Amino acid sequence: MSTTERLIAAAEAHSAHTYRPLPVVVATADGAWMTDVEGRRYLDLLAGYSALNFGHGNRRLVEAAKAQLERVTLTSRAFHHDRFAAFCTELAELCGMEMVLPMNTGAEAVETAVKGARKWGYRIKGVPAEMAKIVVAGGNFHGRTTTVISFSTDPEARADYGPYTPGFEIVPFGDLTAMRAAVTENTVAVLLEPIQGEAGVLVPPAGYLAGVRELTRERNVLFVADEIQSGLGRTGRTFACEHEGVVPDVYVLGKALGGGILPVSAVVAGAEVLGVFRPGEHGSTFGGNPLACAVALEVIAMLRSGEYQARAAELGSHLLRELRVLAGTGRLTAVRGRGLWAGVDIDPAYGTGRDVSERLMERGVLVKDTHGATIRIAPPLVVSEEDLDWGLAQLRAVLDVEDAEVEEVRTGRR
Ligand SMILES: Cc1ncc(COP(=O)(O)O)c(C=O)c1O
Repeated sequence: MSTTERLIAAAEAHSAHTYRPLPVVVATADGAWMTDVEGRRYLDLLAGYSALNFGHGNRRLVEAAKAQLERVTLTSRAFHHDRFAAFCTELAELCGMEMVLPMNTGAEAVETAVKGARKWGYRIKGVPAEMAKIVVAGGNFHGRTTTVISFSTDPEARADYGPYTPGFEIVPFGDLTAMRAAVTENTVAVLLEPIQGEAGVLVPPAGYLAGVRELTRERNVLFVADEIQSGLGRTGRTFACEHEGVVPDVYVLGKALGGGILPVSAVVAGAEVLGVFRPGEHGSTFGGNPLACAVALEVIAMLRSGEYQARAAELGSHLLRELRVLAGTGRLTAVRGRGLWAGVDIDPAYGTGRDVSERLMERGVLVKDTHGATIRIAPPLVVSEEDLDWGLAQLRAVLDVEDAEVEEVRTGRR
C-alpha cells in the first residue's frame, strides 16, 4: 500500500464523509504549487476556493504571522489588544465603510450579517417584531450553518437538517423583476454573491448589481454583498461589486482575508448598521484575535498596492481568452468568469467534471468540479503566466484537443 493509499484509508475510516476529495495527499506547498506525500508536484488551480489568493506560504504573510506568534495570539474580546484598532480601521477604509465586526469563518460572518440586518430592521427601519424578511438568490452558497442552509436551493445541502430558519425569500439570481416583486415593507436586506462561486462562477447580467443597488436604496433595504469568494482581488478589483460601480451597504468577507493561514472573516458596514449591536448581543471567542488581525493587516496592505487586482485582471483576460478558444473546439459548452476566476462546463461527451478533475490530477493539475459538468479554475493570483499556460495545456490534453484544432479556432477557420 502506498503512503497515499494508507493515509486516505485512515482518513476515510476516522473522518465524517462530508467531502469526496481527489485522491491526492498534500504534504507541502509554495506559491501556486503543492507537493504530495510521494513527492509529486501539482499546480493548484483552486486556491482553497479563493482563500489562497496570495499563494501558499506567501512570505509577507508568513512573516507577519510568525512575528505575531511570538507576541500574543489570543486575548478574547474581554480585553483590548494592540492589533485590533488598526485591523478594524484599515479594513473599514479598504471597504470605504466605517465599522468592522470580525468573525472567523465565512458562514459565521454571513450569520452575523443576517443578525445585523434583522436588528437594523427592527431598531432603525421599524419593521414589526418577528416580521423581518431577507431576499436571497436561488443557487446561492453562503455556508453550511443551519440558518444559512435554510435559504439554500441545493437539496444536498438541506436534506434532513430541518426545521429550517424562516424569514427568507428566494428569487432567481440575475432577475431584477423578481427581486423587485419580492421586496416588501418588511424586507430588511437583499443578500447576494455578486458572482455566484459554488454555483459555477455565474456572472449576473450587466446592470443587475446596479439595479439591486437602486432598488434597495429606493426601498430602504440593506444591500448585503457576500464577497467571501469574489472579493479581495479575485475578479481583478478589490470587490466584484466594483465592476458595476456599486457600493453595497454591507460587505461580508472571509477566505483570503486570512491569507490562507487561518480563518478570518468580517462584516463591514456603516455605523448605522453595525452600530445596532450592543455588548452581549453578539460575539466570538476567536473573532478579531491578534494573530488573525496581524495576518489580515498584511493582506490589507498587499491589496492596497493594487498589484494583485491588476494581475488578476491581466492574467484573467488571458485565461478567459484561452478558455474561449477551447470552447471553440467543442469541448466546453460554456465559459464564464471574471478576473482570474472561471467556470467551464465540459461537454458530457468528454466526461463529467469529476472525470476531468481526476484526469487533470494525473497530469499534475488540481481543480474542483461542481454541479456535474462544471469545473472551476481559480489559481492563486501569484501564479505565473507560464504555469497557467502549462495548466491550460494539460486541460487541452485531457480533453483530447489537437494543436491543429486550436490553431483553426485561433485563425477563425473553425
Ligand atoms: C460566497 C461564500 N459565502 C460563504 C462561504 C462559507 O465560508 P466558510 O466555508 O468559511 O464558512 C463560502 C465558502 O465557499 C462562499 O463561497
